[in-house]
Amino acid sequence: MNKQSVNFLRGVPAREALEKIVPAVSKGYETAVLKYGTEVLQYGHFTGFKPLREIIGSLHGVDAERVVAGNGGLEVISLFFKSLPKQSLILVEEASYDRVLLDALRYGHRLAGVPLTCDGVDLDRFKEIVTRMNPAVFYGIPFHQNPFGITYSRDNRKAVEEICRENGVVCLWDVCYQSLRYDGKANDGIEISDWGPVLASSFTKTISPGTKCGYIIVPAAYVNHFTQVIANTRINPNLPTQGLIADFIQSGRYDEYLHYLTGLYRPRMEALNHALKTHFPETSPQTVTGGFFAVLTFPRVGKENETAFVASAREKGVSIAPAWDAVAPDFRADFKNKGLFIRLTFPALDPEALELGISKLKETADSFG
Ligand SMILES: Cc1ncc(COP(=O)(O)O)c(C=O)c1O
Repeated sequence: MNKQSVNFLRGVPAREALEKIVPAVSKGYETAVLKYGTEVLQYGHFTGFKPLREIIGSLHGVDAERVVAGNGGLEVISLFFKSLPKQSLILVEEASYDRVLLDALRYGHRLAGVPLTCDGVDLDRFKEIVTRMNPAVFYGIPFHQNPFGITYSRDNRKAVEEICRENGVVCLWDVCYQSLRYDGKANDGIEISDWGPVLASSFTKTISPGTKCGYIIVPAAYVNHFTQVIANTRINPNLPTQGLIADFIQSGRYDEYLHYLTGLYRPRMEALNHALKTHFPETSPQTVTGGFFAVLTFPRVGKENETAFVASAREKGVSIAPAWDAVAPDFRADFKNKGLFIRLTFPALDPEALELGISKLKETADSFG
């Protein structure tokens, strides 16, 4: 038996990618501290390091005042949730980024799910839910969605924004996988108007999780209230990191690195798609074009044999876990009826490991038939 182990659980950048960026990060920190001096060592810049906010603002065509740069995508989304009235109703995709859901619940907010199609949100259902439930916010991941891997069509995204705008719902797009497209095409940009949408993103997957930097763009009228919440929570973010990233983007090396990353991840994505189509032609949803994730459902694995299935895969060297935390609470029972639902992460695995892992999952599934 092949003893190689394959871990589908770790949504992390590839080791090679981090090794490649070590010299730039180490030099970048030195340069940032020497260049910006005590400014990046002192308290201040509650909403993020001004030079970085200005760069991000100009990339998105908005005033830097609306940009809040923080310690990662999750932090800025969490701060945004914290800034909402208590018990706000937040609409999410039927399955989404589990930590965001857990975080919203921890603030005492309520969650409701919206069904997805391979094109984005199911618009009829979305309209109906928005009208009936009057949510405060819709949180969606329009590019290479976590966990489904789908990308919304432009029309779908625009329609969602319009429904939100007409109904006074904040549309919060998490676009942290927008630049991670590996099929040779580029994702289009999101236009931001005065009202929104609110845009959150992160450099975690495009630079490194350790340097931890993300940002959110909010309407100008929200900045004062939001800044108060931020300043009362963590005062300032990690400023040397933000100095480093500002210089990295400005020098053009960020774009070069993105180019390298998309080249590194392309064969992995192709291996994933090939293996899913070969071994799970009925259950694998659609071709993945970027990002970090895909999903699988095992219709013959129910609650009673879920633990045994995960253990059996582990015996074959494959690490997986049920992804129930990622499912909107009101969709969970329905998902569970359809069988075991798991999320696969692929960029940290080379093509051979991906092929091996998926084929072992198929063997496991067959043995539970
Ligand atoms: C959709 C989504 N948003 C945000 C994040 C978190 O980003 P960060 O590590 O910058 O907090 C992740 C990480 O996996 C993610 O998948």
